[in-house]
Order: sequence, then structure tokens, then C-alpha cells
Amino acid sequence: NKGRYEHYMQKEIHEQPESLTTTMRGRLIQGGSCKATTVLLGGLKDHMKTIRRSRRIVFVGCGTSYNAALAARPILEELSGVPVTMEIASDLLDRQGPIYREDTAVFVSQSGETADTLLALEYALENGALCVGITNTVGSAIARKTHCGVHINAGAEIGVASTKAYTSQIVVMAMLALAVGGDTISNQARREAIVDGLYDLPSKVREVLKLDNEMKDLAKQLIAEQSLLVFGRGYNYATALEGALKVKEVSLMHSEGMLAGEMKHGPLALVDENLPIIVIATHDACFSKQQSVIQQLHARRGRLIVVCSKGDAASVCSGGSCRVIEVPQVEDCLQPVVNIVPLQLLAYHLTVLRGHNVDQPRNLAKSVTTQ
Ligand code: UD1
Ligand code: M6R
Repeated sequence: NKGRYEHYMQKEIHEQPESLTTTMRGRLIQGGSCKATTVLLGGLKDHMKTIRRSRRIVFVGCGTSYNAALAARPILEELSGVPVTMEIASDLLDRQGPIYREDTAVFVSQSGETADTLLALEYALENGALCVGITNTVGSAIARKTHCGVHINAGAEIGVASTKAYTSQIVVMAMLALAVGGDTISNQARREAIVDGLYDLPSKVREVLKLDNEMKDLAKQLIAEQSLLVFGRGYNYATALEGALKVKEVSLMHSEGMLAGEMKHGPLALVDENLPIIVIATHDACFSKQQSVIQQLHARRGRLIVVCSKGDAASVCSGGSCRVIEVPQVEDCLQPVVNIVPLQLLAYHLTVLRGHNVDQPRNLAKSVTTQ
């Protein structure tokens, strides 16, 4: 039921404050003498020791689910101290890449039925790894075949383009990072800031959804473009990949997400006054590096759209003209949840304006059950 919305994708974008609340419900437990919040992921509690002791954590997924894992990787590395590697499911299978008994392999899938991810799971099971699922679908093949896991509880997602599942997946993996990391004196302040950030996230997402009209206006300006680049780095490398994936899969406009640190190693040659480029430059440890990327793009007369933290407009766009989209700032590792929302809205409006099918894009299926 689409309710008051015209399309499922639109409904699912706008219901993210609620889906995120459901994802976290019952999993952040406040109390005890020291008032600290503990994270309870019921499905993992009997396996936490094994996960903490593993030699490596390997994320496996496809498409948006892979991007969500990429967004969560830095915080999992930081809090757990365990090396985290990334595998696109089909590539792991193509290479028959090494998976060991000492590994924890985490399979991320909205549907829980994606053929490549499922085959990669079978491969990891054969190789003796602890296999953890992060799925939205209770009773799905991946939920059944993994040793343990977490349901993201985002509610049914109908639109082929994954939106609310993406943000809920990131939140589950941030909670996973808190759970695996455990309590130490040295990371106490950081943990508290992340927990506070999680509690605040639904209201920050509600706030960023107010950009709807602004993103529609931007979509009108971009309607006839051939191509759109998205540059991000650090926590928001994933935002660049996921924003570009949304734009290409529904609006049928060519779009590529790129690591800003790679700009000088090739993509810079594409920059001219015509090609629109979105730069994600919200405030975090990479901010000054992104400012210098923006300056270099200005120097080549790049046509820039900058996503920055509220209040940073003047400092991101000094020395050139650009369109600025200001988003609320949250704890750095949760910022990808906020930052993807304007790009989801842009992809949605571009698609409607270009007259394409939003909920069932050409040639795509919601669940890719063949290889
Ligand atoms: C569970 C209940 C939830 C209830 C809560 C109360 C289910 C599906 N969930 O949620 O309704 O409100 O207890 O304490 O009944 N699993 C996998 N692979 C996956 C995903 C999950 O093996 O990909 C397993 C988990 O290890 C766990 C079970 O499925 O054994 C349920 O997972 P999850 O729903 O995340 O657990 P809870 O949040 O504890
Ligand atoms: O159901 P899954 O999360 O395993 O699906 C993985 C991809 O097929 C999926 O995310 C795909 O990239 C989406 N259409 C993206 O919006």
C-alpha cells in the first residue's frame, strides 16, 4: 500500500525515520549502575566471542548491500581492531578467494535470496568460516543458512531501488561495531557519542527529508544531462557509490561514484564546465582534503554540487561558484545515513521528470536469483 505516495520508492525514502526507529527498537539497552547503553543483538550474543577472536571480518554482498557494508567498514575496524575486508559476492566466487576457519564472513542482503551472495555463503560454509547474515527477510535462504545473524527489521521494501534497507543496514552494522568492540575506558566517549547519534538519527533523517523540494529543483536542472559523477571519501566513499547507483538504476542516467582520493589518477581528465559533479564534503576528518578537491575542481571550471554540513556553505565554496546542499551533521560514522537521503531524492525526482518507471526500472528485478 503506497498510502499518500505516488510510488513505493518515494514512500520508502520518506519512511526512513520510522524504519530506522524499528531497526533499533529493543537493541539499545539503557540502564545499569553506570547508565551506559549496551547494544543487544539477540541473534549474535552467543557468537560474540568467536567474532571478536576472528582473524578477519569479511563483508560479502552485491549492489546496495555491498555499499552499506562499505559505509560501516571504518567504524567496525576502529572499534573492533579486527581487519575488515570487502568482497563483492560474484568476484569472491570468480576468484575462489581465500576464506579461512578463523574468518567471520558477514553476508549482507536485503532480500536474503540473491544468488551470488547465497553461493558465496555456501562457499564460505564449506571453508569453515563463521557465517553471519544481515538480512531484511525473515525465513529467507541467507537467514536460514547462516550460523547466526541480525534481521534489520526495516519492513518490506517493494521498490527495486533499495533505500530504507540501505540506511537500516548501516545502522545494524554500526550497532554490530559497538557490540564487537566492547567496553574499554579508552573508547568510552566515542561509544557514547555513537549511541547518542543513533538515538538522534531518526529526527536528523526527518530534517534532511525537508530537502525534497530542493532536490526536485536540482533534478530539473539535471534532467537532460548525459552523465553525473559523485566524489566521496572516508565514511562517504560508500555514499558516492550508492548515490551514483541510485541515479543510474532508476533514472537511467549514466552516473559513477568515485573515491575522491583517486581523482588525480584519471577522473580529473573528465572535468569541464559541462559535466555535473556532486562532491560529498560533510564535516569529518577528511574535510580539509575534500576542500582541496573542490578547489582543484574549481580550477578546472568544474560544475559543482557540494553536499556539506549545515553552516559550512561559505567554507566549501570559496573561490568559485557551486550549488550547495546543506545537511544536518551527525557523528561521523553515522553521517552516510543522512548524506544518502538527498541523493535518493535526486534519483527519485530525476526518474519521474525523465518519465521512467521508478519502482520497476528497465531490465532489473527486485531480487536477483540467477547468476
Ligand atoms: C528476536 C525475534 C523478535 C523478538 C525478539 C525479542 C524473530 C525473527 N526475531 O529478535 O521477533 O521481538 O527476538 O527478543 O523471531 N539470524 C540468522 N541469520 C540472519 C538473520 C538472523 O541466523 O541473516 C538468526 C539470529 O541469529 C537469531 C534469529 O535469526 O537466532 C533471529 O534474529 P533477529 O530477529 O535479528 O533476533 P532478535 O533481534 O533477537
Ligand atoms: O537483496 P540484496 O540486498 O541481496 O540485493 C542486492 C542487489 O541486487 C541490490 O542491492 C541492487 O543493487 C538494488 N537494485 C540496488 O538498489
